[in-house]
Amino acid sequence: MLSTSLTVAAAMALMGVSDAASLEQWKSRSIYQVMVDRFARTDGSTTATCDDYVFCNGSWAGLIDKLDYISDMGFTAIQISPVVENIEDDTGVGTAYHGYWSKDLYAVNSHFGTADDLKSLSDELHKRDMYLMVDVVVNNMAQKFDNTLPPPIEYSEFEPFDNEDYFHTYCNVTEWTNSTNYQNCWLYPYAVALADLRTEDQTVSDMLGSWIKELVANYSIDGLRIDAAKHVNDDFLPTFVQNSGVFAFGEVLTGLVEDFCRYQTKGLLPGMPNYLHYYPLLAAFDGGSMNDLATVRSQAQEGCNDTMALGTFVENHDMPRFASTNEDVVIAKNAMAYVILNDGMPLVYQGQEQHFNGSGTPFNREPLWHSEYNTSAELYQVARTLNKARNQIIALSNSSTDSYVNSVAKTLFVDINHLCMSKGPDGAQIVSCIVNQGSGGAEYELSVGGFSAGDEVVELLSCTTTTADGTGNVTMYMNKGEPKAYTLLANLDGTEICNSTKDAAEAAAEDSSAAAGLGMSFGMGAAVVFGWLLYAL
Ligand SMILES: *[C@@H]1O[C@H](CO)[C@@H](O)[C@H](O)[C@H]1NC(C)=O
Ligand SMILES: *[C@@H]1O[C@H](CO)[C@@H](O)[C@H](O)[C@H]1NC(C)=O
Ligand SMILES: *[C@@H]1O[C@H](CO)[C@@H](O)[C@H](O)[C@H]1NC(C)=O
Ligand SMILES: *[C@@H]1O[C@H](CO)[C@@H](O)[C@H](O)[C@H]1NC(C)=O
Ligand SMILES: *[C@@H]1O[C@H](CO)[C@@H](O)[C@H](O)[C@H]1NC(C)=O
Ligand SMILES: *[C@@H]1O[C@H](CO)[C@@H](O)[C@H](O)[C@H]1NC(C)=O
Ligand SMILES: *[C@@H]1O[C@H](CO)[C@@H](O)[C@H](O)[C@H]1NC(C)=O
Ligand SMILES: *[C@@H]1O[C@H](CO)[C@@H](O)[C@H](O)[C@H]1NC(C)=O
Ligand SMILES: *[C@@H]1O[C@H](CO)[C@@H](O)[C@H](O)[C@H]1NC(C)=O
Ligand SMILES: *[C@@H]1O[C@H](CO)[C@@H](O)[C@H](O)[C@H]1NC(C)=O
Repeated sequence: MLSTSLTVAAAMALMGVSDAASLEQWKSRSIYQVMVDRFARTDGSTTATCDDYVFCNGSWAGLIDKLDYISDMGFTAIQISPVVENIEDDTGVGTAYHGYWSKDLYAVNSHFGTADDLKSLSDELHKRDMYLMVDVVVNNMAQKFDNTLPPPIEYSEFEPFDNEDYFHTYCNVTEWTNSTNYQNCWLYPYAVALADLRTEDQTVSDMLGSWIKELVANYSIDGLRIDAAKHVNDDFLPTFVQNSGVFAFGEVLTGLVEDFCRYQTKGLLPGMPNYLHYYPLLAAFDGGSMNDLATVRSQAQEGCNDTMALGTFVENHDMPRFASTNEDVVIAKNAMAYVILNDGMPLVYQGQEQHFNGSGTPFNREPLWHSEYNTSAELYQVARTLNKARNQIIALSNSSTDSYVNSVAKTLFVDINHLCMSKGPDGAQIVSCIVNQGSGGAEYELSVGGFSAGDEVVELLSCTTTTADGTGNVTMYMNKGEPKAYTLLANLDGTEICNSTKDAAEAAAEDSSAAAGLGMSFGMGAAVVFGWLLYAL
């Protein structure tokens, strides 16, 4: 598969459209975000405890040894922490374990390993036909300071920006709606000064351009995440992406459609982590309505010109974990299903699959080894099944112009509690319903379309089969708030997904009698009664 894509890429490059090719290739990928210091240690040990604010000693070598954990979950790309040398200081806000405090762009972060280790990581990923996305900081360089203002920066310590002329004069970012202010002033001046680069200056832009060209070449990087993209001047971004020669996500932290989508429609960035869906997605699972999520979905579809180049996420290293506000694993399963089955690229942050529940930074950066890399964990299995099904459907529909990846998901049914969608062309579609009721959700039947009369379909998370009725509708046996995801049974031929199945109606009947037998209806009250009423209809 890699050789095929590389050949295509090479052919496209000769035709002068290599950027388009790499964007198209990225769209079929599924990305797992790794915080290198907190993913795996070189010796593979899982017992080390560490302070939230300092190095926990994860490394690229440790990551290489645990790539199976990621690829077995069906991911086809990883995004890693920034790779360059950072400041060594212990500051009032900890050490640079996260990699965002650049000091020397031309040296690698020795805490994570050597340049050869990073090359090996890239090689090992490519051997598995996986892509490497590297996080890069272009907005600023970092230096410890004692909170005296303006920060007394020793510019000669920076490489290559060793002179104060490369930087904006100090001012604090205070006006989050004034772009001059949030692009030219310095972010978060506390304990560490983030000396703000004059990216609008041709010299600085050229220096960053030649740096990224080399970095991408030296480590065979396939894509970038550009940190704080909103905080550099607009014009810098497309030049930087062009110089890199690869696909890039830029971090644009806003839930406002106009603010967000203009990065795409003005050609500033090819893609972004999808902050538009993020906020209403959280709200829908926190007492809100799926209707509001559906509304924002339409707005994003209207406002952005390529929603397939966005990355759907519900967690990252900057935001409180999903489970920090709702412990219900069933809710988390629905969120995971949305992330993987939405238009665009799934973007899952390490630990989400282990239902980690840390709150704001740095508590959302728990060492993954504390999970013992448990591949039996419920959310790991959900991610695995849905990623693998998505990968399979993408492969099946990859030659048609109407591919799974490029077909816009259609909303089939939406109300306060449900969002049901169909994505993919006929024959290669996945019909899914996410629900926000949680594990206390009732037992009831929901009839949803998206297939053709008589289609034999399978629900991926329960491996139960159903035949679509004369109108192409499928009866979904909703229960305990579980998400549903269906595809044609025949699409799974030759795969290990749902290689043993059960009739859905029979399985649901067994479930209900088992639940009744165990007295599970006690305490569920109205929800279950409501479920039985629906059954009676
Ligand atoms: C990480 O490595 C440093 C330096 O070798 C050491 O001082 C520290 O104790 C280690 N931390 C952990 C959690 O192993
Ligand atoms: C910078 O501005 C923020 C408000 O945006 C404020 O909370 C913070 O105290 C300011 N820091 C300094 C050093 O002025
Ligand atoms: C925007 O911020 C810049 C830089 O801080 C400042 O000079 C300018 O007055 C601000 N503009 C408005 C309209 O407040
Ligand atoms: C890329 O590798 C060359 C040769 O080793 C080295 O001189 C250069 O500094 C490297 N550039 C970056 C950005 O790592
Ligand atoms: C979106 O708009 C930008 C800027 O005009 C353009 O470069 C890009 O090709 C467009 N993408 C699509 C999919 O139309
Ligand atoms: C977070 O997860 C830990 C480990 O599973 C658990 O002990 C703790 O109770 C959870 N905290 C919350 C607030 O859910
Ligand atoms: C792994 O997860 C499964 C399912 O949640 C659980 O039963 C098992 O105890 C876990 N194993 C470890 C070592 O935590
Ligand atoms: C489509 O996917 C199949 C299965 O992975 C593969 O054999 C085939 O080469 C792919 N075709 C294209 C055009 O990429
Ligand atoms: C078929 O599914 C659609 C939603 O996709 C729904 O609106 C319709 O009512 C269903 N038909 C029946 C007969 O239940
Ligand atoms: C079915 O899938 C499981 C893994 O999910 C695998 O262990 C087993 O070998 C498969 N069986 C067949 C007959 O393919």
